Amino acid sequence: MVPLKRRKVFPSHAGNTGTDSSGEKVSKFPQVVLFLLERKMGSSRRDFLSQLGQKKGFQVEEKFSESVTHLISENNSGDEVRTWLDSQDGGRGRTAAHLLDISWYTESIQAGRPVEILDRHKLQEQQTDEAEVVMFSVPSYACQRRTTLDNHNTVLTDALSLLAENAELNDEEGRGVAFRRAAAVLKALPKAVTDMTQLRGLPCLGEHSLRVIKDVLENGASSEVESTKHSERYKALKLLTGIFGVGAKTADRWFREGIHTLHQLKDSGHSLNRAQQAGLDHYDDLNQSVTKAEADTIGEIVERAVLAVLPGAQITLTGGFRRGKLTGHDVDFLITHPEEGREEGLMTKVVSWLESQGFLLYQKITRNSYLEAKDGPARSASNMDRFERCFSIFRLSKVEKKGAKQPETLTENDVKTHAQENLKTHSHTSSQIQRVSGEEEDGSERKQPAGFRPWRAVRVDLVVSPISQFGFALLGWTGSKLFERELRRWAGHERAMSLSSHALYDNKQSRYLRVMTEEEIFAHLGLEYVPPSERNA
Ligand code: CTP
Ligand code: MN
Ligand code: MN
Repeated sequence: MVPLKRRKVFPSHAGNTGTDSSGEKVSKFPQVVLFLLERKMGSSRRDFLSQLGQKKGFQVEEKFSESVTHLISENNSGDEVRTWLDSQDGGRGRTAAHLLDISWYTESIQAGRPVEILDRHKLQEQQTDEAEVVMFSVPSYACQRRTTLDNHNTVLTDALSLLAENAELNDEEGRGVAFRRAAAVLKALPKAVTDMTQLRGLPCLGEHSLRVIKDVLENGASSEVESTKHSERYKALKLLTGIFGVGAKTADRWFREGIHTLHQLKDSGHSLNRAQQAGLDHYDDLNQSVTKAEADTIGEIVERAVLAVLPGAQITLTGGFRRGKLTGHDVDFLITHPEEGREEGLMTKVVSWLESQGFLLYQKITRNSYLEAKDGPARSASNMDRFERCFSIFRLSKVEKKGAKQPETLTENDVKTHAQENLKTHSHTSSQIQRVSGEEEDGSERKQPAGFRPWRAVRVDLVVSPISQFGFALLGWTGSKLFERELRRWAGHERAMSLSSHALYDNKQSRYLRVMTEEEIFAHLGLEYVPPSERNA
C-alpha cells in the first residue's frame, strides 16, 4: 500500500466531492483513492459510476497513477487487470493497489463509506507457477533491443502487422505505429508466447493489441484480423497500393469511386502518372519478392555503372538485405566517395549510364524531401543539396550473370529466341542481347513456358550521400522502418537530440555531432551498438 498521509486531493473529471474554502475538492475518505477501469465497463457507465461515488464523497481518479489505492473493475479477472496494468507506461503493474470487483464499490456507495474488503470482493489472480511459465522482459525502445530475423511469434506478429497495415491504409498513423510497436516487442522475445501471463510487464502492448494476442492464443486466430483480411476495402486498397507509385490516399479515392480491381482501374480512364503507369505495367514482377541472388546481381550492375562514371566511389547494399533478409520488396543501395564533394552530380551520371545500357525500365531522381523543409536543426549543412536519391525499376535479365541461380533452366536456343523476341517489343542494346545469348548452355530439352520473358522488373532505390554524412545515411537507410523511428524517438525523448539520415544535432549543446561510423552514432545516443542483423524490429 502507498503510505497514507493527508493527501492533497485533485479535482477529478466529473468531480462533485465538495469544495473547501481554498476551492479545492476534498474527499471524505482521504486514505482511499479509487480508479475505475473502463475496460469492459464502457466509458458511459464508468462516468456514471464515477460521479455517483464522487457525490458520496469518494475520490475517484480519471487516470491511473501510483496514488491509486483501490482499482475497481467489472467483468475482468485479476489476470486481465494485471495484464492491463502491465501494459500501462512506467511499470504500473507493480502497483500495490487492491484489485476489486465492482461489488465492493457499489456496496461502499450504498453504505456511504468504504466497506471492509472481503475475499469475495477481491479479483482472483491465477496462481500461475512462475517457474513453469517463462516470463519475458524487454526494454521499451526497439533500438535498445536486438531483434534478429529469428521470430518465434510469427502468428502473433503477422496478426498485429496486418492490423498495422490496415490502419496505415486508413490513414490512421498513430494506430499503425501502436500495432507495429506491439509486434516488434513480440519479435524480440526469445521464445513463443503461450500464455497471456508471460506478457506481464512488457512495454508497448496496449489494450487493443493484448485483445488480439489473447484471441490468437485462445482461438488460433483473431476475429478482427480475419474480418479485416477478408473485407472488400482492405483487399482493394492492398491491391491498389501494390501498384508502385500509388499511396494510401490515391487508393482510397479510387476505392470510393468503385475501383476495386486493376481491370476496373484500367477501364476507368484515369490518367496515371509515369510512376503509376510503370507500376501497372510491371505489377506482377514488382509484387513478387526479390531474392538475395537477384539483389547481388543488381549490386554488380550498379557497381559497374558507378565505377564507370566515378572510379573510387563506394557502393553499399542497405535496406532489408543488409539486415540479412533473404528476400525484399526492392533493393537499396547507398553510394558515396571517400573524397568529400566528388559525389556531386553522381546520380545523374549513374542513371544515364544505366539507361544507355538498357538496364532501366523507369527512373526518377529526387532530392531528399528533407531538403525542402524550411527549417529544422539537421538542415544547415551546405552540402545537403547533394543528397540525392533515385527510385527506379531495373530490367533484370534472368541470365545476366554466370553462376547466378537460374529461375528457369533454358537451352541456348530458348534464350536466343526469347532475347530476339524481346528485342522486337523492348528497346535493348545489342550488348545486352549478346550477354543474354552467350551464356547458359544446359543442353537439356525443355518446353518454353507460355509468355516467358528472359527478364524481370525489380524495384531499386539508389541514394548518394557525401562522405561526411555517410554514417547517418547508412544508419537511416538500413532500417527497419520501426527501428529508425524508434532511434529518432529515443534521440528526441531520451537525449534531447535530433537524428536524421543527414545529421545528429545535440539540442543541449546546440551543435552537430560529427561521425564517421554507425557505431559512433549509437555511442553519441548512449545506446549499445546494434548490428544490422539485429535491427529487424
Ligand atoms: N527509407 C527512407 N525514405 C524513404 C523510403 C525508405 O528513409 N522514402 C528508408 C527506410 O526508413 C528504411 C530503408 O530506407 O530504413 C529501407 O526501406 P525499404 O526499402 O522500404 O524497406 P526494407 O527494410 O528494405 O524492406 P524490403 O525488404 O521490403 O525492401
Ligand atoms: Mn528495401
Ligand atoms: Mn527501398
